[in-house]
Amino acid sequence: MPSFRAPRGTRDLLPETRAGLSRLESLARSLAARYGYRELEIPLFEQTAVFERGIGEATDVVEKELFRLAPRSEEAESWALRPEATAGVVRAYVQHGMQTWPQPVKFSVVGPMFRYDRPQAGRYRQFWQWDVEAIGDPGPGVDAEVIELGRRFYVEAGVPGVQVLVNSIGDSVCRPVYLDRLKEYFGRHEAALPELELRRLQVNPLRLLDSKDPAMAALVAAAPRITESLCEACATHFEAVRAHLDALGVAYRVEPTLVRGLDYYSRTAFEYYRSGAEGQQQALGGGGRYDGLVELLGGRHTPAIGFALGLDRVLLALEEVGAEVARETPPLAFVVGADPADTAARLRVAAMLRAEGLSVRVELVPRKLGRQLESASREHAHFAIIIGDELTDGNVQLKDLEAGTQRLVPLTELAKDLARAAKSHHHG
Ligand code: HAM
Repeated sequence: MPSFRAPRGTRDLLPETRAGLSRLESLARSLAARYGYRELEIPLFEQTAVFERGIGEATDVVEKELFRLAPRSEEAESWALRPEATAGVVRAYVQHGMQTWPQPVKFSVVGPMFRYDRPQAGRYRQFWQWDVEAIGDPGPGVDAEVIELGRRFYVEAGVPGVQVLVNSIGDSVCRPVYLDRLKEYFGRHEAALPELELRRLQVNPLRLLDSKDPAMAALVAAAPRITESLCEACATHFEAVRAHLDALGVAYRVEPTLVRGLDYYSRTAFEYYRSGAEGQQQALGGGGRYDGLVELLGGRHTPAIGFALGLDRVLLALEEVGAEVARETPPLAFVVGADPADTAARLRVAAMLRAEGLSVRVELVPRKLGRQLESASREHAHFAIIIGDELTDGNVQLKDLEAGTQRLVPLTELAKDLARAAKSHHHG
């Protein structure tokens, strides 16, 4: 027999971790609703061209990390699993003519993304993002709203000390000028560049600033800064975004080498890091403005901004600080029986209570009563419902496992009785 394993870079989320992820997903949904970002669902795969054109062919995400689906012979189209949500959301915006809706439109997407990344801690081939997009508002107010929303998520999720790094990477007016300066600068130091960076110099010089190669650190530190090359419109916008963040009391640091790994960005770019971990590769989340993407995917010129937060990394951060990732709610009651073999009677009582909306477990293995009661305490049930001879008169014993008391309750009253107890004890 072969021994099968989950594919490299993927993980099974066992119940405890899945409960942690569910808690983060609920928090994301409730924050989206609080801020007016409507939930949207887009396919897990798209035409490959949506990603190639949207994210950029020379990015790592498209060039190296795209999960391309083998085409079926009868289909001419090629598809790929989504490595992120923004390109798909914008494809949907254009496809459904959302430019005619009142602008801006604000969306929230929660779900798995796929990148053929080199697996390591915090870097998976299937991972979960909370993605937020505001399309149709040039800012600067919405830039600050989005950045503050992301920070609020970390605060409410319980991740301590999250730092906000911001930058402006200019627009189609000033970035070409800056790229020329950058090419000129790194060109002068060509001999010192590792091979990967030499290639970047040709296809995507901005990425040199994002180099993880320690040999590059000194060169990058002395490189011309984009913040000094911004055109007046971009400089004014960046200043206004920072003024909004100041007004909101959002602490941030301007990081001139923050350039992001996807090609669609313009102007505002930002990332969230755990304090002390800013130098590492592992951002908790990031985003920025992408004023050219709607047009690139076939729509009218439309300004937009958004972020994606990596939920797997939030779970890791919570584990690292020893925070409780999720608490599973114990059942209100556990049904047990004096006659181990009479599983039907136990199941019938449990089904009746469950139909009333109560959280009830039941022992269906024909164990002795004592063992059944052990199961009830192991699951931290508040009550045990004991079925015995009294059932012939329509009664059961209701034992309060926390208080240690016991009384006879008519079956017809049981649901009401338990519902009252549930209300005063906050059980599931
Ligand atoms: P991104 O920076 O590529 O941006 O990804 C956002 C976050 O997703 C990262 O900061 C990280 O937490 C998480 N992430 C990325 N790759 C992995 C991985 N292999 N394993 C675990 N977590 C990962 C975007 O995806 C943009 N779409 C964000 C955006 C939205 N910009 C504008 N709107």
